[in-house]
Order: sequence, then C-alpha cells, then structure tokens
Amino acid sequence: MSIAASPAATFPNGFLWGSATAAYQVEGAASEGGRGPSVWDTYSHTPGNVRGGDTGDVACDFYHRYKDDIELMARLGLQAFRFSVAWPRIQPSGRGSANQAGLDFYRSLIEALLRRDIKPVLTLYHWDLPQALEDAGGWPERDTAQRFAEYAQIVAAALGQDCDMWATFNEPQVVTKDGYRIGTKAPGHRDDALASAATHHLLVAHGLALAALRATLPSSARIGITLDIHPVRGVGEDIEGERAISDAEQNRTFLDPLLHGRYPAAARAHMLPPDELIEPGDMELMSAPIDFLGINYYTPRYVKRSDWDDLRLGEEPLAGRPGIVDYKPPDLPRTSMGWLIDPHGLHEALRDVAAESPPGLALYITENGCAAEDYVNAEGEVNDCDRVEFLRQHFAAASRAIADGIPLAGYFVWSLLDNFEWSSGYEKRFGLIFVDYGTQRRIPKRSAAFYSEVIRANAVPLRGADQAS
Ligand code: FCB
Repeated sequence: MSIAASPAATFPNGFLWGSATAAYQVEGAASEGGRGPSVWDTYSHTPGNVRGGDTGDVACDFYHRYKDDIELMARLGLQAFRFSVAWPRIQPSGRGSANQAGLDFYRSLIEALLRRDIKPVLTLYHWDLPQALEDAGGWPERDTAQRFAEYAQIVAAALGQDCDMWATFNEPQVVTKDGYRIGTKAPGHRDDALASAATHHLLVAHGLALAALRATLPSSARIGITLDIHPVRGVGEDIEGERAISDAEQNRTFLDPLLHGRYPAAARAHMLPPDELIEPGDMELMSAPIDFLGINYYTPRYVKRSDWDDLRLGEEPLAGRPGIVDYKPPDLPRTSMGWLIDPHGLHEALRDVAAESPPGLALYITENGCAAEDYVNAEGEVNDCDRVEFLRQHFAAASRAIADGIPLAGYFVWSLLDNFEWSSGYEKRFGLIFVDYGTQRRIPKRSAAFYSEVIRANAVPLRGADQAS
C-alpha cells in the first residue's frame, strides 16, 4: 500500500500535543538568579560519574534563551510544554523563604508560553534535590517530604493563577533505584535500606504536596504525577512468578500505593519500605485521588531463566536473583541508548494502567522519544529518519489505545531539545531540535517537521509496517 493511500491514525478533538524538558537538563545558569546547588551539580562535578565529565552548568542555556525557544515551539505548532521547576532556584537550601528571582523566572516562562498559546505543564520535581537537603539525609529522611510540601505550596501560591496542570514528581522510581539503590544517578548511593526509605518518603511527599496544591491552587487545576512504566514480559517456561516480581519492583512499587494505597505483595521484602517507616495515615495520604497520571514510556523489559555461567547474547544477570536474566531479544531493534524499540509496549502500558485506574483518571504520555545518531549534514540539515519512524509507530500505538477506549488525553515527545542526558552527558541526543553546544545554535530536525504535520492534522499517516504490528 502506498503511503498516500494509507489510512491515518487519528486522534480525538482536544487531544493535547506537547513536548517535554526538565530543568537541570536544559536550563544551565547553574549559579545565576540565586540558585543553590542541587544533587545533580554535586554528582556531575564528581569525576567519573558522567560521561566525558559533562555537567548541566550551561546545558542548552534555556534560562537565557527560553523566549527564542518558545518561538521555535510556536513555529512547530506545539500546544503544550512540559517543564520542571528547579527546587534550588526557589529555595536555594531547600527550606525557608522563597527566592524571588527563581519565581520570577518561571513566571516569565509561563507568561511567554501563554502569549504564544502554549499550555504550560509544570512538574515540581525532576530529580534536582537541593544539596543542603541531601546533606541532611535526603529522601531517606522523612523531613524531606515536609520540605517538599512547603516548596510545593510556595510555587503554587506564586504560579497557580497561570498554570493549570501540575505534576508532583517525575519518575520517583528512578530516583530510588538509580539514585539510592544502584548509584548511577544523583545522589549516587548504593544501599537497599536507603532506597526503600526513599521510596516511602517520595510517596509521602507526593501525598503532602498533593494536599498543599489542592489547598492552594484554583479548583480548576488538575494535579497528577508521572511514572515510568515498563511492561514486563516473561520468556520461556515457569517464568510467571519471576515476571511478577520484576513487574512489582519495576512498576508497582509506585503504582500500587498511588492507585490502591498498598505496596505490591509480589516485591521482595528488601525492595519495600520496612513497616516501622510507615506511619498511620501514610497509605491513605499517598493514594488520595489525582486528576491525571502521566506515563513515560520508552521500552519494555523481558525476564527469562538462564544459566548465569553460560550467558547468551542479550542476557544480563539480574542482581540478587540467581538464574534469572534481563533479556533483550537480539532480533528486536534498539535505539542508540541500547533500549529496545517496541511501540506495542506503549499500548500495553496504557492498557494495563487504564485497567486498574479509577473512573475519570486521565492518562497522558508525558514522555516518549528516542536517542539517535543525529548529525548535521552538508546542507545544514538533520535528517533523523529513524526518529520519525519511531514516533510514527508510537503515535499509531497511542491512536489504537484511544480506539480501544483508553482515556489517553495527550502526548509529550521527549524532548524539545537535545540536552544533558544525565549520566550519558551530551552524547545522547533525544531532541526534536538539534543543539550545537559550542554555539547554542538550534536546528529543527526532520522529526520536528514531521511532528508539526501530525499536530496540524491531529493524525498520523500510517505505513504498511505500522499496520502489521
Ligand atoms: C526519562 C527521564 C528524562 C530523560 C529520558 C530519556 O527517564 O525522565 O529526563 O532522561 O528518560
């Protein structure tokens, strides 16, 4: 079937098309405007933590260039922009009165977005804990949750009139796992007990902040949280029990408390908070109703039994689980992060979450996208055909999910700009817009033009390959 003759994957009226960034990954200006240091400043400035010694000191210089970048968003036709507020810009030491320059920056950003008819979608926490709070114990300390609620209240009081979509956290699971359990992200601890305590206090912080936002924001504001969801699939015989463990530890440790007010029974004990940390009322607090759930989907996971002494291609031992491996089927395509490409996983993630969501809970894809080997060609263009194809297939999967009755209300491509990709530094490029870090020149990639067309048509042209999947 020719492309022209292919039917389009369509989206309902009012479907929200946006793109996403996070403060530390794009802003730069790390010591301007009264900003205090965050755990990411400390972590990235510690040799050996980030590829090439890269830091977010300058990043995309979004702090100074946001007006020009909003022009690029407007030209692209973006309807919404998901960004995060850097806590250390608002409270440089994580407590006490607000730093006016920090609030002013986000107020100007929001006003500039609104002038171009772009809906601001605000996340309070995308991993940049003020370093002073980490020094006082960080997320393993319950007090950090109280501090977060105060910060939420300050931001809501200052910005609540102009912004009506608020998320408390981005991917708290990554904070506990990478930040506290395996140490591959800030603050870089490797300690199960710290990680489990962090899990509980992040959820308590969500609950306290949710209450503070409800008390402070206009009643029309919609409040939610974003989770990373990885569908987990078992391969081979006698694997369901192991699959359920991985699913519990990967997805349900945050999903179950938020939606059902309990920790998942299938997770191993040391992966969950010990009972003595759970105070009366905590589980009710963290499961208070939210208005939307953001899902970040990138890739599925596979688990499989295998001989650890004789590993095959695509198999990696799962720490603490002898004879069980993380499996990447060698025949499946991967992005340049090495992540499996599987658009069906997006449908699966939405379907599974929708199946247990309370009625009325809107779902958003708050992140989806891919890193690719982008380069500027002799004509000065970036022809990221692989990203176009990636997005086309994932948009099509989202359209199928909506056709199946799943309440998906919007989609945010990660990311607007190439940016500081955490421990990978600037090597991995996820943007719709290429950033030349030497000059800060922006070059919209072919995927940006493709995305513009999708937004304008509120539909995605399908190709034969998509329809087969
Ligand atoms: C997500 C993060 C985001 C970005 C993408 C690639 O886990 O939320 O900041 O790094 O991965």
